[in-house]
Amino acid sequence: MKLPTIGAAVLAAAMTLAAGHLTAQSPPQQTPAQDDSEKEIERYRQMLSDPFSNPGFLAVDRGEALWAEKRGPKNVSLEGCDLGEGAGKLEGAFAKLPRYFADSDKVMDTEQRLLWCMEKLQHLDTKDVVARRFSGPGRASDMEDLTAFIANKSSGMKIEPQLGHAKEIEMAAVGEELFYRRGGVMDFSCATCHAEDGKRIRLQGLPNLSVKGATAQATMASWPTYRVSQSALRTMQHRLWDCYRQQRWPVPEYASDSLTALTLFLQAQAAGGEIAVPSIKR
Ligand code: HEC
Repeated sequence: MKLPTIGAAVLAAAMTLAAGHLTAQSPPQQTPAQDDSEKEIERYRQMLSDPFSNPGFLAVDRGEALWAEKRGPKNVSLEGCDLGEGAGKLEGAFAKLPRYFADSDKVMDTEQRLLWCMEKLQHLDTKDVVARRFSGPGRASDMEDLTAFIANKSSGMKIEPQLGHAKEIEMAAVGEELFYRRGGVMDFSCATCHAEDGKRIRLQGLPNLSVKGATAQATMASWPTYRVSQSALRTMQHRLWDCYRQQRWPVPEYASDSLTALTLFLQAQAAGGEIAVPSIKR
């Protein structure tokens, strides 16, 4: 990716402006306060979503370099990795993930497939890679960077869930089951927070992911995203990890089949959504 990156300073300025505006303006008399906040939140989102100041593209660039870097005892790059469209073919691959792979006889999402390729092609010990699954201050994540790079190669394309193979159908059904499965100390499911229109926790709108269509499309088409509040690019693996935490359930294992199942279900809800990634969010 060769987008100029202006970086954090511009972003911080934009945020300060947006935040100032949020607090400084009193709502017009005739509009209900709720509508007014929605409008202002939307303005704030628009200010954040300028691709020329989205640090998420730095992750895309790092991912591109990592993809081509020879690593592991075999000293080979990931360029021979088949993400479903043929070895090394990246265009449109992300739009169809998770999907079934005959060589592993499994439905895999992007991260599972990447780990598989690292192990099978590069003979890389992925312990360190998994330990750095989520980036932190001064600690990059190969998985976030590679996923950002791969996902970006499907930008402008439509989400195309793969439901032709029996295992894909099964996986999507398991994902749906997980979405509605209540449990944990609060007896919450995903649906507790994501199955009604117009729900909100503080200033965060909660997308209704229980129905197919525009909301699910816009949501799924915008991941991976650069999270301004975390100063990091995040993928669906992190989003679901964080939502399980909010749900007060034990956090799921990274790149586990349950997350792939949920992701496939959500992609099916979002079929046809036009991918624009990495996006930038709160
Ligand atoms: C206790 C409420 C709660 C539960 C339960 C919950 N989430 Fe969330 N979810 C949130 C909040 C809050 C956000 C938005 C966070 C933000 O904007 O910072 C969110 C965001 C998301 C997003 C990204 C939305 C976007 O606009 O990009 C997805 C996808 C998602 N959740 C899926 C799930 C799934 C799947 C589950 C079940 C495993 C789940 N959530 C359970 C509260 C919840």
